[in-house]
Amino acid sequence: MQINKKKKIFLAGHNGMVGSAILRLFKKKGYKNIICKNRRSLDLLDQKKTLSFLKKTKPDFIIIAAAKVGGILANKKQKAKFIYENLMIQTNLIHSAYLVGVKKLIFLGSSCIYPKFCEQPILENFLLSGKLEETNDAYAIAKIAGVKMCEAYNKQYKTNFICLMPTNLYGPKDNYDLNNSHFFPALISKIHDAKLNNKKSITIWGDGTPRRELMYVDDLAEACEYFLKKKTKHSLINIGSGEEKTILNFSKFIMKNLDVKCKIIFDKKKPNGTPRKILNSDLAKSYGWKSKISLQEGFNLTYNSFLNNL
Ligand SMILES: NC(=O)c1ccc[n+]([C@@H]2O[C@H](COP(=O)([O-])OP(=O)(O)OC[C@H]3O[C@@H](n4cnc5c(N)ncnc54)[C@H](OP(=O)(O)O)[C@@H]3O)[C@@H](O)[C@H]2O)c1
Repeated sequence: MQINKKKKIFLAGHNGMVGSAILRLFKKKGYKNIICKNRRSLDLLDQKKTLSFLKKTKPDFIIIAAAKVGGILANKKQKAKFIYENLMIQTNLIHSAYLVGVKKLIFLGSSCIYPKFCEQPILENFLLSGKLEETNDAYAIAKIAGVKMCEAYNKQYKTNFICLMPTNLYGPKDNYDLNNSHFFPALISKIHDAKLNNKKSITIWGDGTPRRELMYVDDLAEACEYFLKKKTKHSLINIGSGEEKTILNFSKFIMKNLDVKCKIIFDKKKPNGTPRKILNSDLAKSYGWKSKISLQEGFNLTYNSFLNNL
């Protein structure tokens, strides 16, 4: 399906890592009418303001990249904030999108909302097939509600709301604050610090064995554009790269790139999280989308942007 580049697209969360990648791509592709609002001018926790903004602007499409996001520590410590803010942001946007007749909406889930001990690689229909990882269950419950809300609205109201389920992402504008960050930016930050200060060792959380899939954020931005245009029978689609390593091997990869040769100490008091998390992205591939950016290429771009923002 072709989308007229003048159509109105409301991109919620355009300042975040994912939102800014989507904005970069859509601008590059010539979309002329992307509506962005920062949190100060539109707090998406506010139902009335969200609805009245959408009634006034009447977007044709909505992409929801606004959310409360964080790593394992933030998820563990701020469960109330994670469940409340995610439920509110997505509910306000999805329901208002239905009320104002939005043609298509993309909601973003995450591979971490699948069950903790899921068969691997993870298929879309494994959602809700087992217990959640306890460190991020509040976030996962909120996100699962968003997935189910899209499904329910499509069934009852014949809307076209889809949910893309990205794997772990990294890229420019990632969060490097060690109290909030995901594992990959945390590793970049620690190893960079070891290089700068000639440290003899770095400490990584857990025992280094969990396996993770990583994808450069621009690949997700491409997927958002691809599936905004693509007619799909499915409303839940995994978006992964297939690039998988243990946390230890990701650490070694960064150390090699930064030419750091120090000892790795494992802080086994810190949680490992889910043992393995790799998506089966065959469904996305069957629709003609696949990840294009290699770990090496994505890492180079990310590290450059990390250095530029120091
Ligand atoms: N990062 C990952 O590895 C990853 C993996 C899988 C899925 N995802 C999904 O991708 C989406 C975006 O994640 P991200 O990593 O880009 O997060 P992020 O960098 O933290 O960005 C989140 C964005 O949401 C905005 N926001 C939060 N609360 C808001 C509110 N009340 N009103 C208006 N705007 C609000 C933030 O605005 P401010 O800039 O004003 O704070 C920010 O622009 C999320 O749905 C997440 O679940 C991310």
